[in-house]
Formats: sequence, structure tokens, C-alpha cells
Amino acid sequence: MATLEIKDLHVSIEDKEILKGVNLTINTNEIHAIMGPNGTGKSTLASAIMGHPKYEVTSGSVLLDGEEVLEMEVDERAKAGLFLGMQYPSEITGVTNADFLRSGVNARREEGDEISLMKFIRELDSKMELLEMDEDMATRYLNEGFSGGEKKRNEILQLMMLKPKFAILDEIDSGLDIDALRIVSTGINEMRGEDFGCLIITHYQRLLNYITPDHVHVMMQGRVVKSGGEELARKLEEQGYDWIKEELGIEDETVEQEA
Ligand SMILES: Nc1ncnc2c1ncn2[C@@H]1O[C@H](COP(=O)(O)OP(=O)(O)OP(=O)(O)O)[C@@H](O)[C@H]1O
Ligand SMILES: [Mg+2]
Repeated sequence: MATLEIKDLHVSIEDKEILKGVNLTINTNEIHAIMGPNGTGKSTLASAIMGHPKYEVTSGSVLLDGEEVLEMEVDERAKAGLFLGMQYPSEITGVTNADFLRSGVNARREEGDEISLMKFIRELDSKMELLEMDEDMATRYLNEGFSGGEKKRNEILQLMMLKPKFAILDEIDSGLDIDALRIVSTGINEMRGEDFGCLIITHYQRLLNYITPDHVHVMMQGRVVKSGGEELARKLEEQGYDWIKEELGIEDETVEQEA
């Protein structure tokens, strides 16, 4: 079992504090969902953990099996087994999807133990089939001209090929049609197991009908303000966020408001 432990994490962007003490522990074999209104710091949390240069961690720690992730370079974080599926994946011209995936897979393996081309292709083919992706997606440049839904499906392809210990998926369901939502969910469910933990950032309970989370958290004002089981997501779908704000005496849930 592995553990990703986020402890009292404070993050600023251009001297403005966005995250104000996030605490969250994720074990492998667990799927956590983070919900919360717009502008409450969810994507900031994902970016800070992955080491986006714009996000300055002012205090706190992120431990992967006791090792400080915040001291690792970005490529070391990936090598250590962290994966970030982005809300807006970037396009990389000149690098094919397959080449990108193969170097990603090899980066997680020791030198001299690179995956054979045959084995890689076999695995890629089977995952692409499971995700119902067109064959030509492998040879196209990474994300270039991919539709919104194709980009999201491709993020899950990366996830399935790279097999990280922990994945943080930011709005992986946004812009997906009904079939794609089901397919993407199948991919994530396929990953479930002793060696995989996942944090899913989403606005909609709909996704959680396909992927049953073990824990659901609500983020407001740059903190996790409430946690529960899957029933919490259903309650939010029905009743919105006002009852939490009332319960906790929060007037403005965004990070703008100093608590
Ligand atoms: N690069 C940046 N520069 C300036 N402000 C930023 C930057 N990134 C985030 N912020 C601000 O931080 C706050 C939190 O943003 P964040 O993207 O984390 O919210 P979110 O919870 O993911 O919202 P959404 O649900 O809309 O995706 C917002 O007020 C946002 O404007
Ligand atoms: Mg966001």
C-alpha cells in the first residue's frame, strides 16, 4: 500500500494566497472525489502537487510514502508515480502521441529495462481498443486538433499506459458526451486496485454514478471544509452548496475572501 499525504498545504500565486491549509490523505485502493464551487482552489491543488512553476508553496508538505514530493523536480514526481490529468491538456506539435507515451513509460523504468516496441504497441492497441479510440490517434501529434472529448480520453490512455501510483484527474468529465463519460469511467475503474489511488476533481455527481468514490471532499476558500462518503456527492447534486456554507458560516466560498 502507498499513501499520498497532503499536510497543511499553503500555495500562493503572484503573492496571493490561494490554498490556505489543505489536508488530505489518499491511500492506494481508494478513489477520492473533490467537489466545490468555481474558484475555490481545486485546480490549484492539482497544479501545486504536480509542481507547476507558477504555484509557490509557502508552507506545508506533500508526502508520497513519506518522501517529500515538493522537493522533487517535476519529472521526478512523475517517476515517483504521480500523474496529473489536466483540465486543459496542452497541444504539443512535432511529438506523436505514441512517442510521448513510450518515453513516458520508459521514464518510469530503469535504464536498460525499456519496454520493447512490440510489447508497447500491443499494450497501446489494447488500451486504445478499451477506450474506443481511433487507431490514428496514436500517430497524430499530441493533442493537436483533438476534440475536447478526445483530449480527455487521451488523458485516460496516458493514465492506463503510465500506471502511476496516484492520479489527480481535474474535470476529466467536462465536455464528454454520454458514451465517452461511460468509456472514460471504465478506464478509471480498470485502474482500481492495490497499487492505484485516485483523486477526481469534478463538478458533477453524474461521473460518480460510474465511478463510486470511497471519499468525497468539498473545497471552499482554499481548504477542504467537509468530507464524507458518496452520499455527500448526492446531497450536493440535490441541494447545492448553500447548506454547507450555512453550516460553516461561510459567506463567500471563493479564495478571494479572507476567512
Ligand atoms: N495562474 C493564475 N494567476 C492568477 N490567479 C490564479 C491563477 N491560477 C488560479 N488563480 C486564481 O486562484 C483561484 C482558484 O483557482 P482554481 O483554478 O484553483 O479554482 P477551481 O476550484 O479549480 O475552479 P473551477 O471549478 O472553476 O475550475 C481563482 O480565483 C483563480 O483566479
Ligand atoms: Mg479548476
